[in-house]
Amino acid sequence: MRLAGRRVVLGVSGGIASYKACVLARRLAEAGALVDVVLTQGGAQFIGPVTFEGLTGRPVLTSLWDRGPALAHIRLAQDAELIVIAPATANLIARAAQGMADDLLTAILLARTVPVLVAPAMNDRMYAHPATQQNLATLRERGWTMVGPAVGQLAEGPSDLPGRMSEPEEILVQVERLLRGPQSRLRGKRVVVTAGPTREALDPVRVITNRSSGRMGYALAEAAFARGAAVLLISGPTTLAPPPGIEVQRVESTEQLQQGVARAVKDADVLMMAAAPADFRPAAKGREKRDRAAGNTTLALEPTPDILETTKPFRRKGAVIVGFAFETGEKAARAKRKLTSKGLDLLVVNRADEPGAGAEVETNRVTLLSANGERELPLMSKRDVAEQVCEAVEALL
Ligand code: CTP
Repeated sequence: MRLAGRRVVLGVSGGIASYKACVLARRLAEAGALVDVVLTQGGAQFIGPVTFEGLTGRPVLTSLWDRGPALAHIRLAQDAELIVIAPATANLIARAAQGMADDLLTAILLARTVPVLVAPAMNDRMYAHPATQQNLATLRERGWTMVGPAVGQLAEGPSDLPGRMSEPEEILVQVERLLRGPQSRLRGKRVVVTAGPTREALDPVRVITNRSSGRMGYALAEAAFARGAAVLLISGPTTLAPPPGIEVQRVESTEQLQQGVARAVKDADVLMMAAAPADFRPAAKGREKRDRAAGNTTLALEPTPDILETTKPFRRKGAVIVGFAFETGEKAARAKRKLTSKGLDLLVVNRADEPGAGAEVETNRVTLLSANGERELPLMSKRDVAEQVCEAVEALL
């Protein structure tokens, strides 16, 4: 569990988006965090404390005057590692910016010694109001981190201006970055991840491609982002949703992927080539769709450029280069040679022929190869494999 034992205070103020705070509380608890929910008076009008107690398994605090240990606000402000306010209404933001302490949540914020993450949620005009913008600027100057707001449906109808609270998954990712970043060597590092297959056009309709789903690369991008890295994900065609918070650049062919990597690699501290670029492309692309009536056809194919090879002259000194190899049967032994021939610091070997491993599945079974030796990992989710790869990269940085 990625947030096992981490202590988070979740402040919930009175907005309709507080229903999403329930999902956030649940996700935090599932990730292993100890979540202390603090409801403002307004927050408690929307969702009762019992709901949050059920979701977090911990008592919920609502008032400075609750019975229980004295000075709960001082204790919570000191014991927590992070305070998250979701939703943060215009009123809560104004009171926090003024340094008021007229309820438990604002008192905790004044006594705080830990980072604060704010997820604003309000009517779009209230958000755009100079008073709110000034208050948010004050909080940012104080070192508080903002997530959102997003554009989209508000309680009062659709809007094309920011106001809607960010989705729980996006807030969770920022929570992870704030909690895990300070302990990671990937924090602040520029990480380029490639993912998915590429597609080579035969004609305007047909393509050559492979079974790569992109899941491994997307999981790597998420894992590096959760450790505080600045991530660029260069993705071939996949059906996956862009991971929250991460810059995604879409490409189609191996040549386009090569161009994207060539641009990014110069500044990258880490390159993770998880993409499965098509190794061959049609020697000539037909202008017109081939007619089936033409009968048997022979395709002339030419090899695509080896992207890792072409990056060699542009790699930054000290950059960590991670390659992936799909191998079957006896060829697995061949993978070791790729470590040196492709100039890699780490090679992740996928056994494409084992159940639960390879393309099109959620899990993977890999071996990590580096100059330090070989480590075989058991079958695990691709996200867990990504965590292991990031750990190995941290050791190499
Ligand atoms: N790769 C690349 N450029 C290509 C094809 C692959 O940079 N045109 C990268 C992949 O992203 C991966 C690594 O090379 O990180 C190894 O991929 P693999 O397909 O195993 O290597 P190939 O060099 O294509 O080897 P093979 O001879 O086994 O096809």
